[in-house]
Amino acid sequence: MANFKKVIITSGPTIEPIDPIRFISNRSSGKSGFHLSSEAKKRGIPRIIYITGPSRYIPPDVEVVPIETALEMRYQLQKQAAQADVILMAAAVGDYRIDRCYPEKIKKTKDTLTLQLVKNPDLLFELGRSKKEGQILVGYAAETEDIFEHAKQKLEKKNLDLLILNKISAENPAFSVDENQVYFVTKEVIRGLPKMDKADLAAHIWDEIYKIAN
Ligand code: CTP
Repeated sequence: MANFKKVIITSGPTIEPIDPIRFISNRSSGKSGFHLSSEAKKRGIPRIIYITGPSRYIPPDVEVVPIETALEMRYQLQKQAAQADVILMAAAVGDYRIDRCYPEKIKKTKDTLTLQLVKNPDLLFELGRSKKEGQILVGYAAETEDIFEHAKQKLEKKNLDLLILNKISAENPAFSVDENQVYFVTKEVIRGLPKMDKADLAAHIWDEIYKIAN
């Protein structure tokens, strides 16, 4: 059985400021990360670094690192990643940020307002590029079409050991819900799991991580 000493779990949404009082964000609740953290705790992993965007679901007794933007999450990951045995990227990192956050509140003087967005770095890709020998990197994917093909490509491109694949549909919205139906994608296999509660799914994910490590 692998003896993990330090794991990093990212969770929740990121938020990207528009001006001092407004932002863009997404519907991630942080539940998946919360359950992954509780499960890591149950398994006796001594250091759990929980890097999270704003969320109601903050696990007790772990090292919580609150962040807001994707760039803040990147900074914290760069500080922590090298010594981590496992990194689980459950956060819904915003793909874009406002190119220039307005220093003052935007007034409603004009009938239209155009915001220019610029791409955020792909944190998972960066982690894959700098992955240490023996480190296990886990990412998520949400796909709507050609799901296995896209998942395999992501696994390879981002140098992941495990990809949790959500097929997004009306029956399986994945975001802000309690139950999820996913596939585990590894270099060897693609395995579908039954629809289950996010707490049960977290246990399956950790089982898979221990399997990969052995
Ligand atoms: N992720 C990341 N950095 C980003 C965006 C996403 O690290 N800037 C991570 C998330 O934490 C998650 C995975 O990438 O683990 C989600 O990827 P997904 O949004 O499904 O796909 P993308 O890789 O963003 O590609 P696309 O939007 O083209 O499907």
